[in-house]
Amino acid sequence: MHRSSCEKIKRCAAGEEVLRYDRVSFQYGKGMRAIKKMSLTVTSGESVAICGPNGSGKTTLLKLASGILLPSSGSVYLGGENIDKKKRKDAFKKIGFLFQSSEDQLFCPTVKEDIAYGPTNINLEKEVIEKRTQDALKLMKIKHLENRPIHHLSGGEKKRVALAGLLVMRPEVIVLDEPTGGLDRPTSKELIKTFRHLNNDHGYTLVVVTHDTDLIAEFAKRIIIMNNGEICVDGLTSDVLTDVSMLKSVNIEAPIITQYFNWHNKQLQDHKMKATRDLPTTLAQACCKEHMCSCQKSNVVERKISPAVLKQV
Ligand SMILES: Nc1ncnc2c1ncn2[C@@H]1O[C@H](COP(=O)(O)OP(=O)(O)O)[C@@H](O)[C@H]1O
Ligand SMILES: [Mg+2]
Repeated sequence: MHRSSCEKIKRCAAGEEVLRYDRVSFQYGKGMRAIKKMSLTVTSGESVAICGPNGSGKTTLLKLASGILLPSSGSVYLGGENIDKKKRKDAFKKIGFLFQSSEDQLFCPTVKEDIAYGPTNINLEKEVIEKRTQDALKLMKIKHLENRPIHHLSGGEKKRVALAGLLVMRPEVIVLDEPTGGLDRPTSKELIKTFRHLNNDHGYTLVVVTHDTDLIAEFAKRIIIMNNGEICVDGLTSDVLTDVSMLKSVNIEAPIITQYFNWHNKQLQDHKMKATRDLPTTLAQACCKEHMCSCQKSNVVERKISPAVLKQV
C-alpha cells in the first residue's frame, strides 16, 4: 500500500474486523425502528455493496457507522472501539463517509482547500498536509482541478473531490451513500473503476450503498440486501446476483447481462439444449471466450445445435 514514508499509520491487517454492528437498533424519535437488531461485521480489505428498497435503512446504517447517529440499543465498533457518546467525535479519523449529496460535503472555496480541510483541522504538519493532498489529487485523477472553485465543478468531479477529501484522512474504512446517483453512465463507470483501484491496489475497505446491480457486479465481492431495517441477504456477489428468482422476490433487478443469459438459458432448455453453467454478472465475464465456449461446445458436441445457429444467438 502506498503510504508517505514519514507517517506511521496504524491500520488493520487484511481480514481483521474494521466495522461491526452488534445487535444494533435505531429509532428516529418516536417513529418506527429504522434499524432492527442488526449484526454485521466488515473486515479489512472487503468491498461490500449494500442495496435495498427506499426506506430500508441503508443511509441510517452508514450514519450509525460514522457516529453521526448513536444506536438506540446495541453497539457499533470501529477498529474494535465502541463508538459511543464519548468516541463519536473521533470516528471521522477512522471512517470516511461520502454523503449522497456532494453539496453537503464540500464547503471550501477551492478544490485544494477543501481536500486539505480535514488534515488541517487535526493540526497535521504543513508538509504532511501537502503530501497527503497531492497524493489524494493524483489518486482521484483530479490534479488538474486543484485550483478550481468548487461551484465550477460537474457532479462527477464533485464526487471525486469529496472522495479525495476522505482519502487524505487515511481512514480504515470508507462508506459511500449512493455515489453514482445523478451521474451519467460513463461517469459512473469511471467512478466504479476508481473504487476497484482503491480496494484492489490500495487496500481500502469500501462499503457502498447503491441500487445498481450492473455496477455492483463490477466492484463488490460481497453484497448485502436490506429490507425493513434488517439484512435479508448477505453473500458473495457472484452467488447473490445470479440467483435471479431470489432477487425478484426481494424486488432487486439482476444485472442486465445476467437477466439476458437467464432468459437465454430458458430458451435453450425449452429446446432441450444444454444451458450455460454459470450465469455471468458482467459483460467481461459474458464475453470471456471460455464462458461462451463451454456453453456452445456442449451443445455443438451433442449435435443439438449447429454452429451456424449459435452464431445468430
Ligand atoms: N431524519 C429522520 N427522521 C425521521 N425518520 C427518518 C429520518 N431519516 C430517515 N427516516 C426514516 O427511517 C427509515 C430508513 O430511512 P433511510 O435510512 O434513509 O433509508 P434508505 O437510505 O434505505 O432509503 C425510513 O422509514 C425513513 O422514513
Ligand atoms: Mg438513503
